[in-house]
Amino acid sequence: MKTYSYDAIVFSSNDEKGREQEFVRLLKEAPIPDDELLANLGLFLTSKNLSRILFFAEIYKRIVNSHGVIMEFGTRWGQTMSLLAALRGIFEPFNRHRQIIGFDTFEGHRGITELDAVPSRCSDGSYAVNPGYEAYLEEIIALQEGLNPVNHIKKFEVVKGDALETVPAWFDAHPEALVSLAILDFDIYAPTKAALEALKPRLFKGSIIVFDELCDGTFPGETVAFRELFSPMNFRIQRFPMTSRVSFMEVE
Ligand SMILES: C[S@@+](CC[C@H](N)C(=O)[O-])C[C@H]1O[C@@H](n2cnc3c(N)ncnc32)[C@H](O)[C@@H]1O
Repeated sequence: MKTYSYDAIVFSSNDEKGREQEFVRLLKEAPIPDDELLANLGLFLTSKNLSRILFFAEIYKRIVNSHGVIMEFGTRWGQTMSLLAALRGIFEPFNRHRQIIGFDTFEGHRGITELDAVPSRCSDGSYAVNPGYEAYLEEIIALQEGLNPVNHIKKFEVVKGDALETVPAWFDAHPEALVSLAILDFDIYAPTKAALEALKPRLFKGSIIVFDELCDGTFPGETVAFRELFSPMNFRIQRFPMTSRVSFMEVE
């Protein structure tokens, strides 16, 4: 099934989709006063959505003792970036070196080939967001940072554009950067390969790579790009039981 506006894939059953729409209605009609709304957002967290948050909380705990930046390749609405900024505020509020950098076109997929298009039925432009969304995301993450210590230092970057250009350019501009956590969520082959190529020389023992589509037949490009640059035999590809799609590996 695809979403109405932006051609994003969802695996929910019709029944689940109907219940989720009820949640959306209740959220929009919430009789909760504004000054109590944020503290009560847990009302609307479903097990599926909560499981992704728990996944990233577990992953974050694994990087607190390693140095380096966090990168998300494919941010879309930016929920994961915002979550990571909140997790940094919980687990290591004084670590000014833990920059969080997110990459996206903010215009949807770019660089789709047949390998991606046939199984996913997506095309360039699928998974777009509203025009100018990146400015809204910047505002949200700045607010997250503002609620935590060392908030006079900006510790995030939202990078707009095609990853084939923006990711290598970012690494060229930051010869000091080592990557403690990389989250691959471009879905498709070409930008995933570009990200992995640029990223590989900046990894170290203990770095973690999170995969959103590894071993996933809807978007095989992520696995193909990974196999072309890393030998799966040399890594333990791990998962947590609470989520079905996300996996990760640690460089050992
Ligand atoms: C599944 S979404 C990411 C979801 C996000 N990680 C989350 O947690 O909600 C995939 C994203 O990859 C982006 N993308 C695809 N091809 C790209 C490219 N060539 N350069 C930059 N971003 C790209 C799309 O715009 C889309 O927002």
